Amino acid sequence: MHNLVLRFVVCVLVSVAVLWQLWFAPVAIAADLENGARLFGANCAACHAGGSNRVVAAKNLRKPALEQYGMYSLDAISYQVRNGKNAMPKFKKLSDDQIADVASYVLSQADSNWGKS
Ligand code: HEC
Repeated sequence: MHNLVLRFVVCVLVSVAVLWQLWFAPVAIAADLENGARLFGANCAACHAGGSNRVVAAKNLRKPALEQYGMYSLDAISYQVRNGKNAMPKFKKLSDDQIADVASYVLSQADSNWGKS
């Protein structure tokens, strides 16, 4: 008898946890992208406005270029933001979370051709 009640309680708790995650996960992703957009405007847009590259034009942030240079992943973008490369400075003041947000934003924009498709 006790066993049944316990099972029922566990079952309800698991269901609530799953529903909770389904409900809030999209909100969390949206918030990250919003934060990423803000960080991009403050830190990257000077050289990468609209997904371009004002310093080395070929190395822009559009999907074909990212794929060509092996940059079409969260890891690759995060690494470069953290460590810099050639004329691109490193961003020591950005936390790991902030770098993840801005990298997610870059990938999502690349997927939608920076609003041009
Ligand atoms: C001062 C100018 C400058 C700023 C600011 C800057 N970048 Fe860059 N970025 C560059 C240059 C130059 C390159 C090309 C580096 C190379 O490979 O020689 C580059 C390359 C990249 C690439 C690879 C593009 C490709 O097609 O291979 C990504 C991704 C990137 N930057 C993201 C960012 C992000 C995100 C930020 C902001 C946190 C940022 N950059 C800020 C100058 C800048």
